[in-house]
Amino acid sequence: MRILVTGGAGFIGSHFARRLAAQGEEVVVLDRLTYAGNRANLEDVAHEFHQGDIADPRAVAEAAAGCEAIVNFAAESHVDRSILGPAEFIRTDVMGAQVLLEHARHNKLRMVHVSTDEVYGDVPLGAPACTEESPLRPSSPYSASKAGGDLQVVAYVRTFGVDALITRGANTYGSHQYPEKFLPLFITNAFDGQPLPVYGDGRQRREWLHVEDHCAAIELVLRAGASGEIYNVSGQERENMDVVRRILDLTGANPDLVQHVADRPGHDRRYALDSSKLRALGWSPKHSFDGGGLEETVAWYRGHREWWEPLKSGEYRAYYEQQYAARLSP
Ligand code: NAD
Ligand code: DAU
Repeated sequence: MRILVTGGAGFIGSHFARRLAAQGEEVVVLDRLTYAGNRANLEDVAHEFHQGDIADPRAVAEAAAGCEAIVNFAAESHVDRSILGPAEFIRTDVMGAQVLLEHARHNKLRMVHVSTDEVYGDVPLGAPACTEESPLRPSSPYSASKAGGDLQVVAYVRTFGVDALITRGANTYGSHQYPEKFLPLFITNAFDGQPLPVYGDGRQRREWLHVEDHCAAIELVLRAGASGEIYNVSGQERENMDVVRRILDLTGANPDLVQHVADRPGHDRRYALDSSKLRALGWSPKHSFDGGGLEETVAWYRGHREWWEPLKSGEYRAYYEQQYAARLSP
């Protein structure tokens, strides 16, 4: 099968491209190469590469020529950046999704749209996990944009009969994640003796999903999902401070590096997903967060300084200053 993987130079997309290519599928990547896109993520992956924007119908038509399916990973994906500047999130995560759907509609392609548990918003402690029927209550410009993309998918299925599906995954971890997100930021800062800036009390809870388990779920949905359906992909729930303590253990960093700083505005306290629908399709996770998953991830960052160190310069420094300088100043 010839498959268009949009956002395939990013974290999860590059793992997905590697997974499909290893099975002999023909992988075509369309990626705008924003700050988060990195062709080095694909250096061991057989693929055809197109640099371009999913919101540009011509770039999409060119890259999708001859493809039978689109798997859409392309997105602005960081909550904190969406608070600093929401506009780009609407453009890529909502308008870009619509351009891909329009292409799928006119060319009769299957499309899997990769979305997130954040569209359901906060889940109070003790409340049941979200099913695919739970209401959408996004809190951040990022999650609102992702919800907007999801609703475009739902509308294209209902109105035009497009063969599209949605996955909603939990916080994903593993190798090749840009070092702005919680785990790679804290792991690499710990190696360098830099502050570990915990937002607020650090009692927020996230579900941690290994990138290979997330990609296996998306592949299953691509191959066996029922047209028009939505599938949650859950992880293992942990409190942020517990994760920080594990990172200190695994890196051997000084606990004094931990600093509680001003909280993220609108910060969701907890996410929780019910993924029984996906399990009924045949998915089960193979990786355990505490039973080796986090340890293996820390080991990867320890062994691949040449991958992440160059990323922590230039644009990243400007972002880091804007995001953390005031928070970390005494
Ligand atoms: P990422 O930020 O690492 O990668 C995003 C990729 O999309 C980059 O390669 C970037 O260059 C590309 N891109 C951005 N705008 C584009 C555009 N307009 N046209 C073409 N390419 C563009 O993101 P990620 O963490 O790999 O997430 C991938 C997808 O999975 C996103 O849709 C995200 O919302 C979703 N998701 C992520 C997580 C997570 O924890 N990382 C969890 C659930 C869902
Ligand atoms: O839940 C799925 C989502 O997970 C994806 O849709 C997003 O693309 C992905 O970025 C992620 O969103 P989060 O906001 O949950 O992830 P982040 O890594 O930014 O933060 C995880 C938790 O750690 C959250 O409670 C905020 C906290 N945090 C994060 C950073 C960057 C800190 O305490 N300090 C930090 O410096």
